[in-house]
Amino acid sequence: MIMNLPYKRVLLKLSGEAIKGTREYGIDPQFLVFIAEEIKAGLSLGVEIAIVIGGGNIFRGLAASENGMDRIAADYTGMLATVMNSLALKDALLKVDVDARIQTAIDMKEIAEPFILDKARSHLNKGRVLIFAAGTGNPYFTTDTTAALRAAEIEANALFKATKVDGVYNCDPVKHSDAKKYDSLGYMDVLKEELKVMDSTAVSLSKDNSIPIVVFDMNQPGNLVKVLSGESIGTVIGGKQNVRVK
Ligand code: GTP
Repeated sequence: MIMNLPYKRVLLKLSGEAIKGTREYGIDPQFLVFIAEEIKAGLSLGVEIAIVIGGGNIFRGLAASENGMDRIAADYTGMLATVMNSLALKDALLKVDVDARIQTAIDMKEIAEPFILDKARSHLNKGRVLIFAAGTGNPYFTTDTTAALRAAEIEANALFKATKVDGVYNCDPVKHSDAKKYDSLGYMDVLKEELKVMDSTAVSLSKDNSIPIVVFDMNQPGNLVKVLSGESIGTVIGGKQNVRVK
């Protein structure tokens, strides 16, 4: 275990897209084992890790509602997709000998524990990975917002947003070769410039609760351990003065 870690407890936000690996759709169990190994390495530093995972690899609520599906029905379907991903992630974590629990925002006791904040904190204190599933349980909220909300509730020191690019750029680095990467940004920069990092509700909630957002590429082996150790490999939104260390 490394001493003087910058974070005691983090909330890791994974996108659903991230776990489809090279597939067009669904879940790549082998890629999930890679993610699980990365999380295991992060845990071994002594950091407590909670996770929110999206559902876009299975179902995109917003896209479905734009295509004519009722928004509320679409959002609930999306929430169920996050439960599927959470079950698959928990399975992968157990396969690499990481103790993990799932709590759902919508009661489905046969499948997982309900969301109970005190119990969530207890799981984390015991070194278990805790996956928060089914979003906030309400339509109109994204899984990014869920991540910001749960990060505040569990008093996480940071929200880690795993992406497939290595930070936040001034424009899409895939389309623009001269795109500039930011090492750090203020919350208001992200909101004013409408930088596509997380939705504005998630950024505002993080700002109000002074929780920094660390954007990094989790597809590179070792990157999670690097950011947990405080290496500046991605973009930090919210700045050091805002880091909450208990
Ligand atoms: P401690 O209280 O710290 O011992 O935590 P624990 O989760 O190991 O104990 P508990 O007896 O609460 O749960 C044992 C197992 O049952 C764990 O895998 C839990 O995730 C699971 N579990 C607990 N409550 C529920 C529930 O409401 N529904 C489902 N499906 N599983 C549950």
